[in-house]
Amino acid sequence: MNKLIAPSILSSDFMNIESEIRMLEKAGADIIHCDVMDGHFVPNLTFGPPIIKQLKAITSLPLDVHLMISNPEETLDQYIDAGADWLSFHYEAAVHPRQSLEYIKSKGVKAGIVIKPETPIVAVRELIPYCDFILLMSVNPGFGGQSYILRTNDKIKELNELKKTFKREDLIIEVDGGINADNISSLSELGVDAFVAGSAIFHTENPVETIKKMKNLIK
Ligand code: DX5
Ligand code: ZN
Repeated sequence: MNKLIAPSILSSDFMNIESEIRMLEKAGADIIHCDVMDGHFVPNLTFGPPIIKQLKAITSLPLDVHLMISNPEETLDQYIDAGADWLSFHYEAAVHPRQSLEYIKSKGVKAGIVIKPETPIVAVRELIPYCDFILLMSVNPGFGGQSYILRTNDKIKELNELKKTFKREDLIIEVDGGINADNISSLSELGVDAFVAGSAIFHTENPVETIKKMKNLIK
């Protein structure tokens, strides 16, 4: 499976978002990770469907929309209509996760379930057949710039085993939080397919070089 770098625009300069997107394109980013926060499910507040729609209009890179919102199932259509290419919602906030995953897929969008660091893999085990990807939070959702929670390594291994059990070698394991050039290659060896990184990319002297370096480290 192709390994993917997913820069999180949470750490980008929103006053210059178009040039940030051009920079990501030039650097070879694979998908753009968009963190939607509602000030309720998480204490932080970011943006919603109108901004996703505007991003969609200026780039052909796939948009990976990570919903950190309460009642996500009430507004899935808004994100699908806005142009999400990947759409994930939190297991902890969902009422009918299987149906919602199937609904997202029926709209031609990649469907994912996200779990917080304290939620065990077993919670989403039965959802594996319905997911295109599973997003493991390796920090507490809400803010960029936190340190990678080491216990996530065990969860990555466990999920990798389940991919075999369920004969879902195509299931994408995405990890989000505290990923940088120092830990990305060991995460890749553990079986991570898609790497979300915010501060490690945008808060460096040379984001283009950082992305290129990260891409090399996961080859
Ligand atoms: C946190 C977000 C992340 C965040 C990661 O709740 O889901 O996508 O941008 O930021 P870093 O890479 O700085 O940990
Ligand atoms: Zn995220």
